[in-house]
Order: sequence, then structure tokens, then C-alpha cells
Amino acid sequence: MCGIIAITTSSKINVSKMITDGLKKLEYRGYDSVGIATINNGKIQVLKDAGSIDTVNKRMSFEDLEGTIGIGHTRWATHGPPSKENAHPHSDCTGNIIVVHNGIIENYLHLKEALLNKGHQFSSETDSEVIVHLMEEELLKTGRKQSILEAFKQTIAQLEGTYAITLIHSTDPDTIFLARKDSPLVIGVREDIKFAASDIPAFLEYTKKVIVLRNGEIATLTPKAVYIEKNGFRIQPKPVVVSWTAESAQKSGYPHFMLKEIHEQPIALKNTLNINPDIMEKASNKVLKAGKIIFLACGTSYHAGLTGYHQFLRILQKKPLYKIIASEYETYSSLVDEDTLIIAVSQSGETLDVMKAVTHVRKLGASIVSLANVVDSSIPRLSQIPLYTKAGPEIGVAATKTHTAQVALLARLALQVEHDIGQINRTEFKEQLHSLIMDTPQIARTVINQNEFKAKRLASIIDNQQHAYFLARGLNYPIAQEGALKLKEISYIHAEAFPAGESKHGPIALVEPQFPVIMIAPNDRTAKKIQGNAEEMRARRAYVVSVTEKNHEIIKRSDYTFLIPKSSPLIRPISYVIPLQMLAYYTAVRRGFDPDKPKNLAKTVTVE
Ligand code: F6R
Repeated sequence: MCGIIAITTSSKINVSKMITDGLKKLEYRGYDSVGIATINNGKIQVLKDAGSIDTVNKRMSFEDLEGTIGIGHTRWATHGPPSKENAHPHSDCTGNIIVVHNGIIENYLHLKEALLNKGHQFSSETDSEVIVHLMEEELLKTGRKQSILEAFKQTIAQLEGTYAITLIHSTDPDTIFLARKDSPLVIGVREDIKFAASDIPAFLEYTKKVIVLRNGEIATLTPKAVYIEKNGFRIQPKPVVVSWTAESAQKSGYPHFMLKEIHEQPIALKNTLNINPDIMEKASNKVLKAGKIIFLACGTSYHAGLTGYHQFLRILQKKPLYKIIASEYETYSSLVDEDTLIIAVSQSGETLDVMKAVTHVRKLGASIVSLANVVDSSIPRLSQIPLYTKAGPEIGVAATKTHTAQVALLARLALQVEHDIGQINRTEFKEQLHSLIMDTPQIARTVINQNEFKAKRLASIIDNQQHAYFLARGLNYPIAQEGALKLKEISYIHAEAFPAGESKHGPIALVEPQFPVIMIAPNDRTAKKIQGNAEEMRARRAYVVSVTEKNHEIIKRSDYTFLIPKSSPLIRPISYVIPLQMLAYYTAVRRGFDPDKPKNLAKTVTVE
């Protein structure tokens, strides 16, 4: 939530254009207001307003700001509505100190009161503005004898809550000051230029060398150097080189990132499944050793975790298995002990709810296997075994390719476990592994090719509806949950998923003629009962949509059908969800909404 970028360079180039481009890459993190500040000849210049980057930039022309150092921010409002005043950057009373912040300063009211009593003038309702006034106060205290870095450290020490902070001072016009606690901040390194940003795509065009700032670290960036310290001790940073390409963070001719990312699924699946077998064996070993296993995640990643849970349930019938939505973790924390394995799933690797839960279970002695898409992000760093989906950067707020990549990785792990506990022999394992690796990308491609037009057409049939139900049974239920979440979050049609049998215990009361009911109906053991549920919906003249594999019994009970190639239960949660992603996308577009920027949502949720 909120996107930050900061740049300092020794080259004679204006950073304002790079900052504006970077902000566009971060817009998925928040888009209700935007701002930029640079230092030119020792003078700070700020432009900011409510609105999207393109609208505000058109009006104010960010790119005209001169200077070789600057910071920018795209906001997802927490304290104070979207407005020019509340937009970042914020400055102190003198206008010499400028800050952008992502996170929440929990003790800001108390700090603000003390600062007001000392005569500071506030110009916004945000929690973030206290940072610059505190810093001003720190510098005043010693008559500016202490270094700006010292004053920055004293300032940070007074903050409670979560933060990624970048700050500049007009009297030190080369240096960017950084601090991080629970909100992501990554540093990009190039010989003549240094970047800091909430996420890598913001500077991917210029460098692939990345340092992830850790909780509690304070850093300074100058054009030639990165300095990091924690608790007063210097840290020698080790940059990692990311494999993402600059192209992967562009729309490449697609109207939206979401559509591009839906189409990237075959390659994302291929790359993800091409994983080192040793790490799979290590992860499987953890599963076998654990007394109990808990899948932990939020949102779409939770749905991937649920699929993993069902795959494990099929294989590990006697082992206690649980699934917990990370924000609900505290209620279930008594389940966790030294014998527990947590399987944490998070695309960003930075979701605060997951991070908090993982940090807590570590203290209780649990083991952690994590799945993330962002290399070296916080959740993998907290895990004994980090597993990575290789989906490339995902910019669309609604997760698509990272979801199917997570499901594929969990299927790969389930298959390994099935082999390692002796449920399948070496030959069966090799055959199934070969099929998983080779067939999954191909099936995903076929599903997209054969169903995209159909999804577009169905969108034109349901786009004026207010509600939709997604029904499924067993292993297929998480597919329905994901389909409902996608439709709801980007098209704003109220959509709910139910285990199909549960629909007649209440939800069916709402069903009326033309009410869309999407049935997930593969030819598995749930097929017969799903047919019965489709019949119940038809009897109420609902508009029945089935996602199925040429099951004529279900097709004849449906008004509309998506056909999916036959595949194994390991692949089905991937192939069946793709038409639902496309349906959500085309419905949002028909209803006139931008699927990449659903209202009130942000890509990485760094608040609780
Ligand atoms: C929905 C969506 C969210 C995320 C959730 C967790 O399309 O993307 O529900 O899945 O916020 O995010 P990560 O996976 O980064 O932990």
C-alpha cells in the first residue's frame, strides 16, 4: 500500500522523469494521490495532488522538475482522505526536509500533539507528516551540530508502527535517508545511480542488482555508495541479481497488465515447475517430519494454500492439517508448537498479516516453508525453506499468474510427498512428474485459447447482474472461491462461493431468474452431486454456467459452458480457474472499470 521511489545520481540527468516512470510501475500499490520532490541547486521543489499519476502529471508536469536527487509517492489513503494536502511528499516547517512514507505511524497522535505544543505547523491530516517535524525538532535540539543521519536515527527511534521511509534534506543534496519496519523497501544499485523503491519493477529498467532492506535497518544512498546499519552496527549489503526483465514490467501491447499476466500463465507455470529437485526433497522432508501442518496465507494466496491443503489431505490422511487465514492467526495460535510446519503462501512475500504470523510461529519453534514470487522478500527470509514461483513481476492488483504458479508449486510438493511416503513408486512418480511439468503449461495455453472469446461473450451476458454464485465440491471448492474473489474485486459484482451442497441451506434463497451460478464440474467424484445442484438452480431459472470436461450430463443442464481439457487432479485447480480469471477481467472491462486498479485495493497489503 503506497508506492515509494527515490533516486540519486552523479550523472547530469534530471531524475524527475525516472521517478514519474517508476511511480507508474508502482501505481498498483495505491492510486488516490501522487507527488514528487527534487532538490535543485539546494532548493526543494514539490509537486503533488489528488488523482492518478497520469491526470496529476498532465496538469503539473512532474518531468519539468530539475535535479539529480528526488523522491516520489503514490498513495493509498489510510489517515485523511485523498487530497492535495494529504498527498506525499510532506515537508517540515522550514521546507528543508521532505519525506515519503508507506505504512502506519501508530503513535502519531501523541507525537503530533507534542510537536503542536512546540509550535510546529501541520499542513495535512496524515500520520506521516510527524516524521519531518520530528526530524526538524531533532536538528533544532543540537543547533544542527549533529549529522543529519544522527537526527534521522533519533527520529526513527520515536516511531511506533510500520514504515518504509525515504527522506531528503536540502543541505545534503546527494543523500537519501531510508528506514524500514514491516513495509517493503528495496535498493537498486548501479555504478552512477542508486534507487530505493517499494518494489523492484520501479527501477528494473535501469538495474537488476537489488538489496532488500531488512526490518530495523537504516540506510543512506549517495550516487556512488550504499551505507546500511542496524542497531548502530554497519551491515555489508550483498546485492542479489534478479532474473526479471524490464519487458516483464511493461504492458507489451496488452490493454491491461491483468490480461497480459493471464496470457503469461503458460510460461510462468513452465518456469515455476522447472525447480531444483533437491529443494523439493528438502521441503518434502519437512512435511514428513512435521507432527501437524498449517497452511497460512491471505486472499488469493490463501486459495492456493487451500488447494495445497486439499492435495495434502488426499495424501496425508492421518496427519493433522489446518488452514488459517493469516489475519485470523491469533485465534488459532495455540495450535502451533515445535512439531508444527507452517506452509506460508504470499506472492509479494511482504503481506503484513502473514509476516506477523510467521514471525510469531518462529518464536514458538515451528518450521516454515514459504512460497513467494519476490526473491529475498521478508517472508522467504523468515523461512527455513523458501520456495519461489517464477512468474515474473505481477503488476495487476488482482493476482492471476502468481496464483496458478503457487498452485503448481504446491502440486509439485504434494507429488514429492506422495512419493516420499511410498504411496506411489519411482516409476509412477516420474510419469506424474513428467505430466505435471510438460502438460500443465500446454493445458493452460489451450484453456486460454479455447475460452477467451467465450469469457468475453459471457461477460456481455452477466455484466448487468448484481450477484453471482460459484459452486463446487471438495478439491474444487477453492477454485470457486478464487473465481468469486476475482469477479467481486475487479467487476464489483457481488460474488460468493459455496460448497455446492451448502447452497440449499440458505444461499439459494437469493436465486431468481437469470441469477448467474457458475458450477465447477470436472469429471471427478463430485460430478454426480454437482449435476443435482445444477438441476436445483435451473429449477429456479438461474443462469447456469458450467466449467467442465465434456460432461454431457452437466452440459445439458447448463446455459453456458467452458470446456477444459481432461487432466489430473494436480492440474485441474490450475486449468479450471483460468476461465474464471478471464470472465472477471472481461466483465470489469465491460462495466467500464480498470481491472489493474480496483478501487480501495492495493497490491501489497502492509497494514493489519
Ligand atoms: C487478490 C489478491 C489478494 C492477495 C492478498 C495476499 O487478487 O491479489 O487477495 O492475494 O492480498 O497477497 P500476497 O500473496 O502478496 O501475500
